[in-house]
Amino acid sequence: MILLHKAEALKPVVDELRKQGKRIGFVPTMGALHQGHLSLLHHAIAQNDFNIVSIFVNPTQFNNPDDLKKYPRMLEIDQELLSQAGCDAVFVPDVEEIYPEGELTEKFDFKGLERQMEGRFRPGHFDGVGTVVKRLFEIVKPDNAYFGEKDFQQLRIIQQLVENQKLKVNIVPVPIKREEDGLAMSSRNLLLSPEMRKEAPVIFEILNAAKDFFIEHSAAETKKFVENLFEQSLLQLEYFEIADEETLQTVEDRNCCIHIRAFVAAFADDIRLIDNLRFQ
Ligand code: PAF
Repeated sequence: MILLHKAEALKPVVDELRKQGKRIGFVPTMGALHQGHLSLLHHAIAQNDFNIVSIFVNPTQFNNPDDLKKYPRMLEIDQELLSQAGCDAVFVPDVEEIYPEGELTEKFDFKGLERQMEGRFRPGHFDGVGTVVKRLFEIVKPDNAYFGEKDFQQLRIIQQLVENQKLKVNIVPVPIKREEDGLAMSSRNLLLSPEMRKEAPVIFEILNAAKDFFIEHSAAETKKFVENLFEQSLLQLEYFEIADEETLQTVEDRNCCIHIRAFVAAFADDIRLIDNLRFQ
């Protein structure tokens, strides 16, 4: 596995692969890798000739400076994991490499996808994600790029970015990886206290209970049901929404659209966790 820090060093590698007609797979990450990331890489390895993972904690997508500071960083362990998993190249740029003109974000129109859920609670977050992913795509020039459904809204936004900008990259969604107790894998899980780590699987339990409840109830009733369950837990619910997977607009009942998914953000002390589950 090769380790590269500069776009300039990656360019000849990518150019040569393209000349040889090789397919390039790409997994963008912010490091602190877990089985969820490795699952993205495994999907990439199955479908491409050469696979690149980037590790870059993108400052422009953190609306909370404290969150950015707290974000776990463990480059050496990450490299070891990637190398063992069969990654071909890891790209670890510094902030100047991605933002040569300072930490500026482009403003995107994601057709309203950016205004729902995470967009309401993390202003500017998706412009930061769009800016960095666009820049990484320009550098890596992948055929296929892999995004986890854990950040389902991000995945939809990246699909919209590719459509808006007419980028020649295929976006591949990858299902959520869960711990044995149901907690969705996330780098942030490392930050949970032992007590909160024990409590956190309640998110997935509530999502499953809500899925059953929604069969015979409206979205508004289901929302109340969920709020109630969170009140009995140690977690603080930030939002629960039932939305159309296509537009991410909230729905009233199950007659609205083909695929419906429920989305949760909740705090375990000061650690913010998100999860989602397809209802239909
Ligand atoms: O999902 C993430 O880890 C990040 O949002 C991404 C896509 C790597 C952009 O910084």
